[in-house]
Amino acid sequence: MVKGIILAGGTGTRMMPCTKVTNKHLLPVYDKPMVYYPLQTLIEAGIKNIMIVSGRGHAGHFVNLLGSGKEFGVKLSYEVQEEAGGIAQALSLAEDFADNESIVVILGDNIFEDNIKDYIEEQEGCKIFLKEVELEAAKRFGCALVENGKVTYVEEKPLHPKSNLAMTGLYMFDSKVFDIIRTLNPSARGELEITDAIDCYVQKRACYYEIIKGFWSDAGTFESLFKASTLIRRKNNPLQSDLASDVHIERIYEMIRAQKELLKEIMEKIENNLGKEDNYIKKEIERRIEKIDYGEYL
Ligand code: DAU
Repeated sequence: MVKGIILAGGTGTRMMPCTKVTNKHLLPVYDKPMVYYPLQTLIEAGIKNIMIVSGRGHAGHFVNLLGSGKEFGVKLSYEVQEEAGGIAQALSLAEDFADNESIVVILGDNIFEDNIKDYIEEQEGCKIFLKEVELEAAKRFGCALVENGKVTYVEEKPLHPKSNLAMTGLYMFDSKVFDIIRTLNPSARGELEITDAIDCYVQKRACYYEIIKGFWSDAGTFESLFKASTLIRRKNNPLQSDLASDVHIERIYEMIRAQKELLKEIMEKIENNLGKEDNYIKKEIERRIEKIDYGEYL
């Protein structure tokens, strides 16, 4: 049975000061700690044996939160990444756990709507999971080029993306991945890049792919964390309006309340200056204030 690995190390510098005293993957995404979501993705895929790799500072917090995995019906193991040496370096720590079997790897800040059960099959090579994004957004991710049904090129955070297919943080690898990682050199940012490991499979024409259908978001920046929370909130409460329109409506209400106040002030001033014979004007203004209806503005 395929094993699962959640990579939840790294420093979380993009989310300071929230990550000063806790780990990024323990921050809430809507109503649950971030790490619950990748864990749920693996559990829903039927994976029963899962390792969590986390950074040294907060490893104990993961154990406190998730324990043995009993409450989730799975077996959890833990490994500590001493320093943030990159995604591939974090993965290398799971070699013994993988025990020469195929593995599913998911980044601890990646949130998927899809049930990936049907995509998981033991096979030689690696499989990456792609999502169509705006070309501009592709610069923020690993990016893949697919030609004639094959992955022919991958690049980490390209300045000029060759496609709009972002590589999500979900991967399947055969047991050769650990030998491949041993051959990698640190990138310009000083990390062992998972994209470089995948590139080795691409060169051997052994990189397969699936396109993700449902929503996908990483939650590793404040903007993407907000987006992920909004998506989850919308999914959990389909009858509620989304946050963006809530904010919009609240602004309109504020505007209308301000207009009403203004009209009332004008009314008072007019009252103080008008004689009885001008009662008609007063009544007309009162009528108009009453007529202001929120519904007209929404
Ligand atoms: O979210 C998808 C993207 O994730 C992919 O498109 C990229 O190809 C992939 O490199 C990655 O890019 P990021 O720049 O978002 O990676 P980041 O450094 O934020 O790390 C993502 C997760 O990987 C993080 O939540 C925990 C884990 N990680 C990362 C590092 C650097 C570790 O476990 N150890 C590490 O040393």
